[in-house]
Amino acid sequence: MNELRTCVFPCAGFGTRFFPATKVIPKEMLPLVDKPILQYGIEEAVASGLDKLVIVTSKGKDSILDHFDRTAELERSLQERKKTDLLEEVEAVSTMVDLISVRQKEALGLGHAVLMARDAVGPNPFAVILPDDVILADEPCLLQMRHVFEETGRPVVALMEVPPEETSRYGIVGGDQLGNRRFRIRDMVEKPKINPPSRYAIIGRYILPPEIFPVLEKTERGSGGEIQLTDALRELVRTGDFYGYVFDGKRYDAGEKLGYLKATVDYALKHPQIGPEFRAYLKAVFGGNGKADEAAPRSTPRART
Ligand code: UTP
Repeated sequence: MNELRTCVFPCAGFGTRFFPATKVIPKEMLPLVDKPILQYGIEEAVASGLDKLVIVTSKGKDSILDHFDRTAELERSLQERKKTDLLEEVEAVSTMVDLISVRQKEALGLGHAVLMARDAVGPNPFAVILPDDVILADEPCLLQMRHVFEETGRPVVALMEVPPEETSRYGIVGGDQLGNRRFRIRDMVEKPKINPPSRYAIIGRYILPPEIFPVLEKTERGSGGEIQLTDALRELVRTGDFYGYVFDGKRYDAGEKLGYLKATVDYALKHPQIGPEFRAYLKAVFGGNGKADEAAPRSTPRART
């Protein structure tokens, strides 16, 4: 079986759901507590055993690459001031990975962004992580999926069960539940308005064969005038076994405001340094009954209403 080493991170979208914050700052660089959103995805890929990481960027997103680069001047300054803890943190980020960067010159859709990574990926299977789908899990989501890929040698996508009223917002799969969190996918429907084939939605993690590239090349612009990855996946489903894995963990859509706030709260509560104090703060604000309480600490300015 071909080795799975490569992970592609499409980061070339406009991030309009988070305007105006993302007009200049890439959404992948918004901080989730103390790390940019993208770093969580990179750490997930590395923890899943992938070491060839390809970032698909666009104009104005160079700060993404800078974040994972060496910052010699900063490191020297921290060394001189004996800020060893900070120095270690900064060095850990720049030595974590070597990134390969490719450009998507026009935002023609997720499918097109993945196609831009073709030469960098080469002839082997590869993973795709959509960085704004942040997943909190004991075992990294991509590693959970990797087990299925290693057993079957076939494509795998991450699935999440959604309430019936939300199926119209996602790509929904149809097929057979195999037990053990596995699903044999026979069809996919993008944002079904009626009669969804199941309640399992495709989430931003994929393990794909290189055969997806010629399919993407032929994929016409679909919904929203964009080249959709789902349209190419549907073609691939016709050519052989294709699996879904209902991952164990919690997913946040950090590419929109509410999802981002929920992720911020949950990640902050789990943070080893600020978690306990943040929990105490929330308790003081909500007074244990879920309602904001006048006992809220006064040192923090209140939001303007
Ligand atoms: P999204 O639809 O979530 O991202 O695409 P977006 O287009 O940036 O966001 P909105 O809808 O305008 O708020 C899913 C992923 O695909 C990437 C995005 O960067 C995101 O990671 N993408 C999307 C590209 O790389 N290129 C594209 O042309 C479109």
